[in-house]
Amino acid sequence: MSTANKTVLITGASRGIGRALVEQALRRGAKRVYAGTRGPMAHADERVIPVILDVTSATDIQRAVTSIDHLDVLVNNAGVAPYDDLSNPDILERTFAVNLFGVLNVTRAFLPLLKRSRGAVVNHLSIVALAALPLIPAYSISKAAALNLTQSLRALLAGDGVKVYGVLLGPVDTDMNRGLNIPKATTESAARGIFDGLEHDEEDIFPDPTSQSLADGWRNGAAKALERQFAAFVPGDAA
Ligand SMILES: NC(=O)c1ccc[n+]([C@@H]2O[C@H](COP(=O)([O-])OP(=O)(O)OC[C@H]3O[C@@H](n4cnc5c(N)ncnc54)[C@H](OP(=O)(O)O)[C@@H]3O)[C@@H](O)[C@H]2O)c1
Repeated sequence: MSTANKTVLITGASRGIGRALVEQALRRGAKRVYAGTRGPMAHADERVIPVILDVTSATDIQRAVTSIDHLDVLVNNAGVAPYDDLSNPDILERTFAVNLFGVLNVTRAFLPLLKRSRGAVVNHLSIVALAALPLIPAYSISKAAALNLTQSLRALLAGDGVKVYGVLLGPVDTDMNRGLNIPKATTESAARGIFDGLEHDEEDIFPDPTSQSLADGWRNGAAKALERQFAAFVPGDAA
């Protein structure tokens, strides 16, 4: 799907990859970019419309839905990645609230608009969805669950013409992994890779050098074959 002339909503647009996605969508000719943030945000381009949207807040989600009358692309980008060792259940809950239930609840709320536009949902996952990074196990579990959620949504919404994309991001240079001394892609190049993947209709998008090295293995692997096999059980009118 091309972004030109489209209306896009990006959650977690205040900084990091979300912020870069706003700029990338504008560069690609988006008609309108709703920038979901938890605090106030200003942007010089009049196509950007800030929307207060804490993805864990049912009130914010409802208010955002009623303020938007058309949507082509929902990018579920907001995320948190606390360091933990699974000893504190609160950390798991808080991480799941954003990375899993936030994705599900925001998607469900915008489904009527996305069904009407036959639009797209883009879920920001991570390569740690494929194998846990035990420094951030709560995060890894949440992204694995979000990958599974993405697969179900993809199958359930296909009959409505809503495409669901998963972005298997590798390390990108943002606040999220500030302390980690490893090669990282820039936010700008990751944002380009994400919209390129969307334009090329890659259901699983690998937008940076680290993730790209996994792309062929994933696309031709047993898990992908199984996903397709299981998706075929969904009746055409399931959604
Ligand atoms: N950076 C990486 O290496 C990497 C790798 C794999 C996947 N990802 C994924 O890419 C996405 C963006 O990550 P990033 O690196 O750009 O992170 P980041 O720089 O830490 O930014 C996180 C964004 O999420 C927002 N956010 C956090 N909790 C929220 C909530 N409850 N409601 C709404 N927004 C919330 C933050 O808003 P505030 O400014 O209000 O806190 C911020 O805009 C995440 O889903 C992340 O898991 C990143």
